[in-house]
Amino acid sequence: MVTSVPRSPLHLVTDPHPDHPQIRAAVAKLSDGKLVVFPTETVYGLGADALNAAACARIFAVKQRPADNPLIVHLASLAELTKYATAIPDSAWQLAAAFWPGPLTLLLPKASAVPDFVTAGQSTVCVRIPSHPVAQALLAAFGGPIAAPSANTSGRPSATTAQDAAQDLGGQVALILDSPVVPAGIESTIVDATQAQPRILRPGVITAEAIADVVSLAPEAARSRSTLPITPGSKYRHYTPDLEVWAMAPVTDTAARVRRVWADLQTAGRRGRLMTPQLIPGLPIAAQVVLPTPERYMNQLFRQFRQAETDQIEVLIVVLLAEEGLGVGVNQRIRKAASRLLPSAATTDESNGGAGQSSSPS
Ligand code: TXA
Ligand code: MG
Repeated sequence: MVTSVPRSPLHLVTDPHPDHPQIRAAVAKLSDGKLVVFPTETVYGLGADALNAAACARIFAVKQRPADNPLIVHLASLAELTKYATAIPDSAWQLAAAFWPGPLTLLLPKASAVPDFVTAGQSTVCVRIPSHPVAQALLAAFGGPIAAPSANTSGRPSATTAQDAAQDLGGQVALILDSPVVPAGIESTIVDATQAQPRILRPGVITAEAIADVVSLAPEAARSRSTLPITPGSKYRHYTPDLEVWAMAPVTDTAARVRRVWADLQTAGRRGRLMTPQLIPGLPIAAQVVLPTPERYMNQLFRQFRQAETDQIEVLIVVLLAEEGLGVGVNQRIRKAASRLLPSAATTDESNGGAGQSSSPS
């Protein structure tokens, strides 16, 4: 009893519908101003009644989230959109029609119904309609907007399992809903849809390519680099587990470079692990987490950050994906978590090994 981590009740919902007893229990908690963790198709969310000031304040307290970092408002259906957003451009309607319900968040001018405590005083609101069956059932049953950031302590890797959410927030939330339907593994794509030409603010599960098939993107967004502006959250430390993450660019001689970095780690007596899309010959197989598709890489990224913590790894080397499609969003999370980007000036001194530079743009 003394040593145990604080617990919150956890319920697996295998057949979600608005009348499901566990969904009704969660709605009762939300209506009572309490917090509920629920799965979405991206990551787990920490939900509260978006119209209840005390409940939203509790999100900030429980996550230790900076007060100027606004919350995404989750809606049940498109019919709700005009209640909470105004001046919606045609392009935003096109994106909504193409990707909702699904892992897209639209930044729009807020309607007066959206309280300032949700938007941290901004005149805009981030809204999304999630497609996860449990999130859908919860929103339909609740009948109002649910504010929900990712269900992790601020600055930590997002929670992609109910257990990860419980590790960070257990005991501080009324209820945790779980589901056999697993999330994609990184958060929604946030698109600034306030202008006729949308811009990607946070790359995510919906790729720039998919968005550009529906609407023309603003030119700087078409490059979709991770340096793009500007959500308040982007200035804070992010996704960081309690160990060092070293990001390794996928250069032509990645395998040789990884082996050199690995040898240095061994010399220094540090416990390492490698996350890579391809097995690196010459490294112990047990030290490698090999995830051959971008989908699996995305799905496992935050989970592997946390697993490496559990396993008391000191340095997790993560090979970046090609900077296209899902790779853009995955790489953005890896870079934000990383304390070192390789090859760096300090590690390119081995010369030769592939024309001596060839760093990919990053
Ligand atoms: O997939 C997701 O989007 C998940 C699931 C739970 O829906 N949610 C999520 O929320 O990632 P959070 O709070 O971890 O990240 C939301 C980001 C933050 O960087 C925040 O600054 C930005 O969205 N944001 C929210 N409202 C905004 C606004 N009005 N203006 C600019 N940025 C905003
Ligand atoms: Mg987050």
